[in-house]
Amino acid sequence: MYKELIDKLERQEKLSFEEYLALIKHRNEVRDYASERAFAVRQRYYGNAVYIRGLIELSSYCKNDCYYCGLRASNKNAQRYRLNAEQILSCAKSGYALGFRTFVLQGGEDAYYTDELLCGVIQKLKERYPDCAVTLSLGERSTESYRKLREAGADRYLLRHETANEAHYNRLHPQNMSYANRLRCIGDLKALGYQLGVGFMVGSPFQTDEDLARELLFLKDINPQMVGIGPFVSHKDTPFKDYENGSAELTVFLLSLIRLTLPRVLLPATTALGTVDPLGREKGILAGANVLMPNLSPTDVRKKYLLYDNKICTGDEAAQCIECLKGRIAKTGCEIVTDKGDYYGL
Ligand code: 5AD
Ligand code: FES
Repeated sequence: MYKELIDKLERQEKLSFEEYLALIKHRNEVRDYASERAFAVRQRYYGNAVYIRGLIELSSYCKNDCYYCGLRASNKNAQRYRLNAEQILSCAKSGYALGFRTFVLQGGEDAYYTDELLCGVIQKLKERYPDCAVTLSLGERSTESYRKLREAGADRYLLRHETANEAHYNRLHPQNMSYANRLRCIGDLKALGYQLGVGFMVGSPFQTDEDLARELLFLKDINPQMVGIGPFVSHKDTPFKDYENGSAELTVFLLSLIRLTLPRVLLPATTALGTVDPLGREKGILAGANVLMPNLSPTDVRKKYLLYDNKICTGDEAAQCIECLKGRIAKTGCEIVTDKGDYYGL
């Protein structure tokens, strides 16, 4: 019965809310089959390739106050830093030498990063490394700002919607943030021709199975090129400090459902997944994920970019992470490649 739903997804037939919900509720019965079919679907488009993205964590300053995040503005214990243009370019230089062909500029919402500064950095990156993609992950900005950054050469943008349920969104964020503005941003990014990444946390406080079923319908509807999901991991200095972490098993199962729902999607096995389960990233790859995002930020700032507790890889040089990941991925039968790794068909 549940296997049939997986087969239906593989044939690219749409599932209803009730069908997704049934899969989520009976995940223990279908998880292995879903994982096997998701792996096969990913092989069909991307073969054995696992793409690596060099993550440059620009800034631990954030004007927002999301209840789940360790970088929230009211966390007085957070250590703050920001990288200037020169430091960003120097991270990219070492990343290029290590084989990275995508740079992801990620950071809190920090007014230091004006359009002017960012456009300068993006233009230089595209000039120096024409064979590379530039991905931005800098939160909510104005339509005009997204337009300028795209014109400067940015190829992709990651902006997680966090939850596809507005009432749930309002329980995860303070009043000055709105689901409507998040959707406005996502619409803008799509219209501007960015390769778009959205995503959500698994097991965030108050999330229900019904919410997860809605997530899959939302993804099918938005049809993004990338989807970033990871378990919620509590951070000791946030209002959600006493909530339980999301589970690796559920995250891995959802990765399979996402691969089957959006067969060509670029799907990372995230650091948060590797944090809640030491073999989480490998399990994610075996269940249909095909992207890893190791950190390229200088080691002296690594421990200051803590969205959640016990984050892995904060002490390692990028070169060490690459070696570690190569070994881990080889065991899955896949292979890390030096490639820009665009969405299949682009
Ligand atoms: N646990 C897991 N993921 C988190 N994020 C922020 N805080 C946490 C947390 N405590 C995720 C959010 C955000 C991205 C930058 O990191 O989904 O979009
Ligand atoms: Fe919102 Fe960090 S404060 S994601």
